[in-house]
Amino acid sequence: KKPIGVALLGLGTVGGGTYRILENRKKEIEQRLGVPVEVKKVLVRDVNKARTTAVPQALLTDKPAGIMEDQEIAIVVELMGGIEPAFTYIKEALKAGKSVVTANKDLMALHGGELLALAESNGVDLEFEASVAGGIPIIRPLKVCLAGNRMEELKGIINGTTNFILTKMTQEGSDFAEVLKEAQDLGYAEADPTSDVEGLDAARKLAILASIAFNTRVALDKVYVEGITKISARDIEYAREMGYTIKLLGIAKEQEGQVEARVHPAMIPSYHPLAAVNDAFNAIFVRGDAVGDAMFYGRGAGDLPTGSAVVGDIIDAARNYTRQNQGRISCTCYDEKPVKSFGK
Ligand code: NDP
Ligand code: HSE
Repeated sequence: KKPIGVALLGLGTVGGGTYRILENRKKEIEQRLGVPVEVKKVLVRDVNKARTTAVPQALLTDKPAGIMEDQEIAIVVELMGGIEPAFTYIKEALKAGKSVVTANKDLMALHGGELLALAESNGVDLEFEASVAGGIPIIRPLKVCLAGNRMEELKGIINGTTNFILTKMTQEGSDFAEVLKEAQDLGYAEADPTSDVEGLDAARKLAILASIAFNTRVALDKVYVEGITKISARDIEYAREMGYTIKLLGIAKEQEGQVEARVHPAMIPSYHPLAAVNDAFNAIFVRGDAVGDAMFYGRGAGDLPTGSAVVGDIIDAARNYTRQNQGRISCTCYDEKPVKSFGK
């Protein structure tokens, strides 16, 4: 069976996690799809850099053109971050008839509409589950599973770095700058962590989520943004004395046909479930007119959690690709495993 060729653009925190999952779960992925998925090329800035993820040197390249021209590559996975050159590379890949998977919220918040239209007109997929809340499934649930609802409200903790900082300041009295450094070392923070601590990363994610939830376009510059840099140890202590926990929240609502979206620190009663979301975990509440309240919780940042969402998108894009190009492939989609029955 001819493998589905994948190119990774970026081999940092998320690219490394994605590559490791693809390698470790190779057999299971092939069972699910009926065809293997094979990483053919990995684009990086510096092919000679020492790396924590072991990748055969022959896969590394610093030449994007070779990827776009390679007929054996069906899926391009953008994990570089930032606007350019990621924007150009994604457009080139889509125009070349390749599906694209990305974790890039900066780009999706600014140019998502244009890129989705380009994917549609080229008959390929553009998937971006990992762009919001790391490993938590939230884009597809909003787009597909909850599509029968009129969404009323969406709110949650959607930045792992700031939640990690606030947790450590609250529980251990840690110093802001020291914890930020720890979050960077753990791979949670953006290349420029200002976007985390000033709330911009959360605003980008909120713009993406609100656009999907309310079936509209919520422009990034319409989202009110306030980060956590002005929160002091004293604020945290006062809040605690009054029975509150400070969290950075993203909140979006639709009322009387108008959508409101804002990101800012908020005092949450300590008994509320959001107050118990700690470290780099994220949680999102949604309220729909049919489903009522629903909550999504999990790891919002980091190599394997985010890689989990990226690999899910790769498998989905690969399945669509095989259906379009090779028809439905009959496969043994599972391993025969004995089922242990209790009480017999
Ligand atoms: P890193 O900075 O760790 O990795 C970026 C990678 O991209 C590096 O391998 C780098 O190459 C490569 N790269 C950057 N610019 C170029 C370029 N111009 N040409 C070729 N290669 C390039 O970033 P992350 O893995 O943390 O983040 C990647 C994306 O995922 C971002 O969009 C981020 O917002 C998003 N994201 C990150 C999460 C996280 O927890 N870190 C969670 C969810 C989403 P080299 O190694 O040679 O320098
Ligand atoms: N810097 C981001 C965060 C990564 O801390 O949430 C996940 O999108």
